[in-house]
Amino acid sequence: RFADVPEAPKDPILGISELFLADTSSDKMNLGVGAYRDDNGKPQVLKCVREAEKRIAGNFNMEYLPTNGFKDFIKHSLDLAYGEDSEAVKSGSIAAVQSLSGTGSCRLLAEFQKRFMPGCTVYISVPTWSNHHNIWRDAGCEQTTYRYYKESTRGLDFEGMMEDINNAPNGSMFLLHACAHNPTGVDPSAEQWREISKAMKAKNHFAFFDMAYQGFASGDCVRDAQSIRIFAEDGHKFALAQSFAKNMGLYGQRIGTVSVMCEDKAEAVRVESQLKVIARAMYSNPPMHGALIASTILGDPALKAQWYVEVKEMADRIITMRTLLRKHLEDSGSKLPWQHVTDQIGMFCYSGMAPEQVDKLRTDHHIYMTRNGRISMAGVTSGNVERLAKAMHEVTK
Ligand code: LMR
Repeated sequence: RFADVPEAPKDPILGISELFLADTSSDKMNLGVGAYRDDNGKPQVLKCVREAEKRIAGNFNMEYLPTNGFKDFIKHSLDLAYGEDSEAVKSGSIAAVQSLSGTGSCRLLAEFQKRFMPGCTVYISVPTWSNHHNIWRDAGCEQTTYRYYKESTRGLDFEGMMEDINNAPNGSMFLLHACAHNPTGVDPSAEQWREISKAMKAKNHFAFFDMAYQGFASGDCVRDAQSIRIFAEDGHKFALAQSFAKNMGLYGQRIGTVSVMCEDKAEAVRVESQLKVIARAMYSNPPMHGALIASTILGDPALKAQWYVEVKEMADRIITMRTLLRKHLEDSGSKLPWQHVTDQIGMFCYSGMAPEQVDKLRTDHHIYMTRNGRISMAGVTSGNVERLAKAMHEVTK
């Protein structure tokens, strides 16, 4: 019956984790998947998360959550993204459901787009997180790309991006990374976001922000939300995917929110009802534990303050590793420019290494990263950074 089913290619990110696990070397390094490690290379559970777990333990039953998720969690999540003084949140004109982290949020929105935005093409940055392409493909939406990254400057191709915004048919959807662009670590400045917002408004484009790294880019959750706050100020009606995988370290809990800004409360009620219909058929209702943890943290001022400290600590450790990686690369005698290692922000360094160089790192040095040259800086530690720099120099000279 399944004789003709071909074996699928490995996922460009999670496939690297599979190769890493199969490697028996004792000094192997996994810089593939974007998952935070402490300076000993160990997964980290935040103290605020452990405290929230203590408070939750024994206090909740195991019933189903409603299809749209845990109400308190959604409220805190929206406050965090849009700001506690957001008129849109206060007036109830944002449709929102708890979702299965970033991927699940994107998928719900893509399904919504397929049903209620017929003929609307989604524009996706070059490059982007590889799963974006899968999600919109499987939802059956038309997708195309817009320019984003300029190889020559290892920075933003702002002119190319603006041209593509201006040349897209009116009313197109643009998938934007709210902060800490994955994989490049290159973000528009506040001024550039304002121009992007203005251009998209003039074209009546619909923005969909994927925000997987709030707090992780700068260590400041308000600053990292500046793009969406600028769009809100400019009166856009946009959609937003929030993930708590990275910033709370809740990877396996699959916790996030998808929200759609609507004209008014009545419209939000209708949109939300359709998101629920989509979720019901896909997974019925979202898991509870992560929602309880996140809402316990966000709902308690002391725990929330502690979370801010911890998320900043993670962001700062990554910034320190960038400085060290650049220093060791320069000390190694490499003649290549490495300034982008410290210029880029967030979890990743878009190193500029070619796929064959990445392959050599894997085969000769047991260092694993995605073949587009993306390094998960979250896996770099004071113990392995020098070896990484030397190996990078080795394969790039
Ligand atoms: C990544 O980009 O490595 C992360 O977002 C994890 C994932 O699901 O791909």
